[in-house]
Amino acid sequence: MQGLSAAGFALALLSAAAGAHAAGASIDAPLDGLRGDAVRGRAIVADRTRGLCLPCHTGPFPEVRFQGDLAPDLAGTGSRWSEGQLRLRIVDGRRLDPTSIMPAYHRSDGLERVAPAVRGRPILDAQQVEDVVAFLVTLRDAPSISSTAPQGTR
Ligand code: HEC
Repeated sequence: MQGLSAAGFALALLSAAAGAHAAGASIDAPLDGLRGDAVRGRAIVADRTRGLCLPCHTGPFPEVRFQGDLAPDLAGTGSRWSEGQLRLRIVDGRRLDPTSIMPAYHRSDGLERVAPAVRGRPILDAQQVEDVVAFLVTLRDAPSISSTAPQGTR
């Protein structure tokens, strides 16, 4: 009996730790309760002056020349990741991987809250983050272009 309850206690601890980990790997609630717009999100991602995504990523953007190959193809991201995981990835991917070269687009550290007048502005505001996330969840097809792209040319 005692052995069992000790095991149960250990299990409870383990699942609590797993829960905390899952909570840290995604941001499930929309920022500021805002609703994203996928059309605006696509424009942000494709825009070199705002999203800056495509110098690193390729994706289903036939109109954009010179897409990067430093990062995974964005095609199919909506199948690979949940909305909450995508939101965290855009807000601050370094919480997943501190060595990532991908910028934190909307970092929310304590400084942002204490000194709003002087804080560094995030690259994307909360609405723009929600727009980008709303767009990414629509990317449900697996990459097609990159898999047929010539290899060995990098
Ligand atoms: C400086 C290069 C860079 C920029 C700019 C960048 N990313 Fe990334 N991104 C990466 C890298 C590298 C990864 C692979 C994981 C990692 O190393 O963090 C990644 C991973 C991702 C992933 C997960 C992809 C997957 O399927 O594993 C998504 C989604 C993503 N980025 C979206 C974006 C969006 C949207 C933008 C623009 C708002 C953007 N990224 C800008 C480099 C970049």
